[in-house]
Amino acid sequence: MDTKYNIGNNNAQMNGMNNKNKFQIRDKPTPILFGNKNGLPPSPKRMKLNGKENKATIPNNKPKLSIQEQRKKLPIFDKRNKLIELVQKHKTLIILGETGSGKTTQIPQFIYSAQIHENGKIGVTQPRRVAAISIATRVAAEIGQGTQVGELVGYSVRFQDETSKKTKIKFMTDGMLLREAIFDRQLMEYNVIILDEAHERTIHTDVLFGIVKKAQKLRENRDLPPLKIIIMSATMDVDHFSQYFNNCQAVYIEGRTYPVSLHYTVKPHDDYEAACVATFFKIHKDAPPDHDVLIFLTGQEEIETCANRIRTLSKQPDVIGPPLKIYTLYAAQSHSQQMSIFQPSPANTRKVIISTNIAETSVTISGIKYVIDSGMDILQMCNFRCRTFHPTTGLETLKVQRISQEQAWQRTGRAGRDSEGHCYRLYTRSQFELMRKATIPEIQRANLCTVSLQLLSLGFHSMHFNFMDKPPKESITAASEHLVLLGAVENIASVVLTPIGKKMNKFPIDPHFSKIILSASEFGCLEEALIVVALMSAESILITPQSKREQAQQVRQKFHSAYGDLVTLLNIVREFNSVAQNNRKAWCHEHFINMKNILHVKEIKDQLEEICCKCGLSINSCGGQLDQLRKCLITGLFTNVAELYRDKQYITLDKRNTVQIHPSSVLHGQLPHLVIFTEVVQTNKCYIRGLTTIESKWIQDIVPEYVKSKNIKIS
Ligand SMILES: Nc1ncnc2c1ncn2[C@@H]1O[C@H](COP(=O)(O)OP(=O)(O)OP(=O)(O)O)[C@@H](O)[C@H]1O
Ligand SMILES: [Mg+2]
Repeated sequence: MDTKYNIGNNNAQMNGMNNKNKFQIRDKPTPILFGNKNGLPPSPKRMKLNGKENKATIPNNKPKLSIQEQRKKLPIFDKRNKLIELVQKHKTLIILGETGSGKTTQIPQFIYSAQIHENGKIGVTQPRRVAAISIATRVAAEIGQGTQVGELVGYSVRFQDETSKKTKIKFMTDGMLLREAIFDRQLMEYNVIILDEAHERTIHTDVLFGIVKKAQKLRENRDLPPLKIIIMSATMDVDHFSQYFNNCQAVYIEGRTYPVSLHYTVKPHDDYEAACVATFFKIHKDAPPDHDVLIFLTGQEEIETCANRIRTLSKQPDVIGPPLKIYTLYAAQSHSQQMSIFQPSPANTRKVIISTNIAETSVTISGIKYVIDSGMDILQMCNFRCRTFHPTTGLETLKVQRISQEQAWQRTGRAGRDSEGHCYRLYTRSQFELMRKATIPEIQRANLCTVSLQLLSLGFHSMHFNFMDKPPKESITAASEHLVLLGAVENIASVVLTPIGKKMNKFPIDPHFSKIILSASEFGCLEEALIVVALMSAESILITPQSKREQAQQVRQKFHSAYGDLVTLLNIVREFNSVAQNNRKAWCHEHFINMKNILHVKEIKDQLEEICCKCGLSINSCGGQLDQLRKCLITGLFTNVAELYRDKQYITLDKRNTVQIHPSSVLHGQLPHLVIFTEVVQTNKCYIRGLTTIESKWIQDIVPEYVKSKNIKIS
């Protein structure tokens, strides 16, 4: 049964550390030499680089065809009937097709038009919200006839549900589908589930593989309407996936719409950021203004530095090239900032987007002609010496390292979507060949606390769950131990959640935060705890433009609390709530507060409050008694306590790691004895952020079991 179909014959055509301070902004970047002008042998299995080129029929980048004409030009389009037949025939199907061939936008529409979903929904997962939202928007536009997102085509991402009763094609983040499974393990809302970008192997996708497989089986055994599963990607190890899904059928759709030329550097470059800038200006000098550029770097700081550098250099009199519109894209940005990258650039202006791996898979940014791939990414690694550093995501150490070959192909695939393109790889061909083939699945390197809790609510212990690739044993044990300390389970082997554990699962947030909410009414501070948790779940409400940093800090000084960042943010929200509706915009402007984000905090708080009411919690407020809130934070964040030990250095009580207070914290320079933190940022040093001061005797009173089990000693 392990045959692979090859559909069609359009023939693929792909011709082809953090050292910011050393930059002087006025330095001219050293030119980078690229060889292999016409790119190279393809990745052996996936990219058929030697095939006949399916040349673009439109001259350059901006699409001049109608949206329906664009659809018809996609390699997948004339394989529609064959694909429908295969989906009808197989209960599980793997679909492999090159980047941009039309998998994500077209396959759900094919299934919909053939009514394979019958009276259920077609659910399509994406690893990231930017992709889920932008693709839903595109598909709604393709369906046309005035279809708006939220009607026939909708999306669901955390704290934002744009679906309605009419929705049949639902794009969502993998995390959202996993949450839905907690409430209905048979996933009865769906008759077809497409797990897209499966190669990314996010922790949620990996868990979903097992969940959908189980749901399919349960429905089969109970004679319920069958669940079809489709696994899709442009770059994945088909055999490994097929084996896991009971040797299911795999199909390969050949062909891509537009060719992408590959260019490797002649020699290796240590300073990949400078190399990105140099390569950008090489393109900028000659390319027509409407040829946009997408640069892949690793994280926020690096991306902002690169953007500044490009901005400054482009203004120098001897730099030739059209005006620039520079966008950045990284996780910490607000939703609207992230979505702004899709705006077309003004006439005669070049758009340049500098992004983390958010733009690496799935998305189409119209107009991108050039991709510059630094070859680097930040990988979140679970380091067992310093576990439980980042309670929001459960991720600990962020390490800059080389990408995998799969990632390189995905990055390349962001060009060549609406016209032919180029990809400049800032590494040599031999460096590419030395890269690992696929990225290590997140499940094997991340903290499993949240996922273990979710699995328990579905009746599985992570130690016995049917993972495609098992996570390390220590990681599972560590997560189970943490859940015991949070009170979600009685002991590490338990498969049954305690009543608190069950309630924790009702909140779409990590267990550390749901525990804080669930403890808060006892401390008489539920109102404040909800605001703080909502603040931690949303994008930053503070705007601190580099040019007006001091002014922003000064005007917000009145909110500063000696108790730290969380209480300071709480003060801001409290003040905002007291401002009359029609003055809020001006107030936000005056205090450098992002109005959209602070309103989103309010929405999240309302949603969490609704869940509290369902759990029978009564909302109470501690008013000015903020010790109650500070104590309550310990109930969930007890592993994130750091003690001052010498010379501005702090040491974490849990894993004895050395950390420092982040310069952006209101406690920076104040050296409080003991702080609880919500986040760790690692650059050349390990910084803690989101701080609240606490008193040592509280820890013993609030989490005596933890103090005992870890033999915690506080001076
Ligand atoms: N927002 C958009 N604007 C313009 N064209 C788009 C847009 N979204 C999709 N397209 C067109 O549709 C094509 C197919 O996109 P789709 O996302 O379905 O490809 P895919 O096969 O899923 O690619 P990938 O493997 O990169 O996810 C793109 O190559 C592009 O030509
Ligand atoms: Mg796709």
